[in-house]
Amino acid sequence: MRRFAAGVCLATTDGPAGARGLTVTSSCSVSADPPTLLVCLNTSSPQNQRFEANGCFALNVLSGGDEQLARAFAGEGGLDADQRFALGDWSKAETGAPILRSAAVAFDCRLIDTKIVATHRIIIGEVLAIAAQMEASSLVYLDQSWHSL
Ligand SMILES: Cc1cc2nc3c(=O)[nH]c(=O)nc-3n(C[C@H](O)[C@H](O)[C@H](O)COP(=O)(O)O)c2cc1C
Repeated sequence: MRRFAAGVCLATTDGPAGARGLTVTSSCSVSADPPTLLVCLNTSSPQNQRFEANGCFALNVLSGGDEQLARAFAGEGGLDADQRFALGDWSKAETGAPILRSAAVAFDCRLIDTKIVATHRIIIGEVLAIAAQMEASSLVYLDQSWHSL
């Protein structure tokens, strides 16, 4: 998988089950009409259950300048949810999910289905709103290093 160049995103949720955010590369578009995407979350982290419990999430596609955020949300420094979210500039989407203002594009999603495959739960979201910055670069992960494209 290290040879599989991938866009880096922060998957985020908030609601009755509490806030959660983590760095992901296993996300992709499923359908354009209706706009639908998926994210694969490791079931080994109990905090990832918050996505399903809240019923909503945002997929924040990182711009090239947000490597430090990507590292923090991947667990570097051992920060808790509040400390991680304090690092960025966030707004609240219609669903309640945290939207990163500096994201190249952020998708606000209603969670419509999930499926467990091997070690991961695939969460599928219907996109309700989009916030895009057309001039932003993209953060890409390849060979265990970060690249701005
Ligand atoms: C480049 C990169 C991509 C990652 N992609 C995913 C992913 O797609 N799904 C996932 O569940 N975890 C992924 N992770 C791991 C999570 O970011 C990490 O386990 C999590 O943030 C740890 O947080 P925790 O200590 O709060 O559990 C990735 C980590 C890195 C560095």
